[in-house]
Amino acid sequence: MDIMQTIYQRQAVRDFSDKQVPTKDLQDIMDAGQAGPVGMGEYEKFHFTLLTNPGAIKQVEADSVSNPYYGAPAVIIISAQKQDSSVGSMECVSAGAMIENMALAATGKNLASCVIMGALIPLSKDDDLLSKLQIPAGFAPVISLAVGYPAESISKPTKGRHEVTQTII
Ligand SMILES: Cc1cc2nc3c(=O)[nH]c(=O)nc-3n(C[C@H](O)[C@H](O)[C@H](O)COP(=O)(O)O)c2cc1C
Repeated sequence: MDIMQTIYQRQAVRDFSDKQVPTKDLQDIMDAGQAGPVGMGEYEKFHFTLLTNPGAIKQVEADSVSNPYYGAPAVIIISAQKQDSSVGSMECVSAGAMIENMALAATGKNLASCVIMGALIPLSKDDDLLSKLQIPAGFAPVISLAVGYPAESISKPTKGRHEVTQTII
């Protein structure tokens, strides 16, 4: 798929079927994430967690608003190393770049995705669950991606759907 078409077709999907995504596709999506740009090239400050076990996804959802992963069969969480008690802004921006690479890779495979932060706010305070999910000590979840097949067919936009003000000097 042409890169601009892939960018325009990526969209937040909030209703997934329970069909499992092949492991190879999920690995490709994580590979796309780690191909993304990271401040100072400090890739060792990041960790990816892939959840395909429905029980594990439900545990992350349990503390959150209802159904934050919208029934997605796979969730990828990007965690980053904390400085003092929180994740620094450079790591947050880098995680954003990596998650978008993952979302675009999913779109390129005709998979649906949604970037999700909501479910991570309670998770980051739940030390027991962080440890069960094997998120490394000193790391905190920053952003996540729900991945799967859409419950219903979705539109394939051929141009941008949002506007940001621009100045060209
Ligand atoms: C940092 C970030 C956090 C987000 N968190 C959530 C979330 O918790 N739940 C959700 O449904 N969507 C979440 N989204 C998706 C946005 O709502 C969505 O990308 C935005 O409305 C634009 O729509 P589009 O993705 O279809 O272009 C998040 C997106 C970003 C970039």
